[in-house]
Amino acid sequence: MTPVSDRPLPPGELGLPWIGETISFLRDRTFAKQHHERWGPVFKTSLFGQPTVFLKGAESNRWAFGQENKTLVSQWPKSVELLLGPASLSNQVGDAHKQRRRLMAKAFGARVLAGYLDKMDAIARQYCDRWEQLGEFAWYPELRDYTLDTACKFLVNLDRGSENSLGQWFERWCEGLFSIPINLPWTAFGKAWQARQQILVEIDRLITDRQQMTEAAAAEIGDALSLLLTAQDEEGNRLPPAELQDQILVLLFAGHETLTSSLTSFALLVAQHPAVLDRLRAEQAAFEFDRPLTMADLDSMTYLDWTLREVLRLIPPVGGGFRRTIAPTEYGGYQIPAGWSVLYQINRTHEDPSLYDQPQQFDPDRWNPDRTDSQNQLFGYIPFGGGPRECLGKEFARLELRLLAARLIQRYDWQLLPDQDLSLRLVPTPRPRDGLRVRFQRR
Ligand code: HEM
Repeated sequence: MTPVSDRPLPPGELGLPWIGETISFLRDRTFAKQHHERWGPVFKTSLFGQPTVFLKGAESNRWAFGQENKTLVSQWPKSVELLLGPASLSNQVGDAHKQRRRLMAKAFGARVLAGYLDKMDAIARQYCDRWEQLGEFAWYPELRDYTLDTACKFLVNLDRGSENSLGQWFERWCEGLFSIPINLPWTAFGKAWQARQQILVEIDRLITDRQQMTEAAAAEIGDALSLLLTAQDEEGNRLPPAELQDQILVLLFAGHETLTSSLTSFALLVAQHPAVLDRLRAEQAAFEFDRPLTMADLDSMTYLDWTLREVLRLIPPVGGGFRRTIAPTEYGGYQIPAGWSVLYQINRTHEDPSLYDQPQQFDPDRWNPDRTDSQNQLFGYIPFGGGPRECLGKEFARLELRLLAARLIQRYDWQLLPDQDLSLRLVPTPRPRDGLRVRFQRR
């Protein structure tokens, strides 16, 4: 039996019964910051009906990643869990998670990604043309269409996914992702739940179409859908249909929402920092818009890499990750009882002045390995999480970010339109409130 800890519980308040401090957590962007100021690096609160411990600092990330499947397992708030579906990778734990992750990782191998580069580039160019014709527009919704098209082509071989009703349903689904899970027609959760049903209908249609192909033709496509459809466990069993749907849904969601946020932040920060833009332009002068880019080309774009790293540091698309204790545990001198939630925080880590000099400044050069103040960021730079649940799509994301950013810098110029609200909405992923309205033209 695990001995009962004699350590105190973390400081903090659990708030009102069930609702706890959920409303302030969802509405007040300074919630965590203020609570840390008051209670220190580890505090307790209650969110979505669960006592929850917030952790801050690189050391706490190291601890949380190392505890996966020992005293901690993944558990997202109820609304996220229900909307992603019980069988999605994000909700699987232990051996089931390990086994599925191994299988799904094959869809993101280096060779698969290199083989997708030209298709991804073709979609990027089509959108660049479209934006040039539009001239003035809100970029966030456009980037959402772009990332959804790219994810749909890569994951389920669907062209122009954003023109399919999927795009619309995902938008509504995302609005309810972090919400109080009351399923009524007028609540954010209820609407998102309806959207989930519609998304599943679309996914089911894609699965049925694929099943009607010969196995050889399906294997030829070689996307995540074929991989999951033909996968078998040690006993020769195929994935149950409900799991197949949930896995495709989680990939389509994770594959576009976070990238939309990152690309929007890139466009915003570069527009606000002309000196960074000049350096990016100088680097891109070695490449031509009309010539295909290779993986080696992308790997040689060092300053672009630093810039994108810095974008993901300053405005991380995912704020943190939720876990649940499966056994009583201790961290930072406090006990955490079994069944509590634990949140490791990406955004608080990235703004830690003990890790980053002037953390609020956008400074791509901080990633220059020759800079004397650059530190070992092993657990201090975690936009993609870490440990056994580190982002599965990290390399796909890095590829898409570098590719579109490079094409934009090579040929285009954009300015932020006046009179717009550039402050960020943070949930479910950060984006400027007015959708980043820009004027966009060829240079
Ligand atoms: C800039 C873009 C992205 C960021 C910042 C990001 C961030 C993250 C983070 C922080 C996690 C870990 C969550 C946790 O600790 O529980 C995660 C997990 C995951 N990501 Fe990403 N992600 C990005 C893009 C993508 C893409 C493009 C895909 C797929 C096409 C993807 C698929 C996943 C999946 C399936 C998981 C769950 C992994 C697991 O539980 O084993 N992500 N991502």
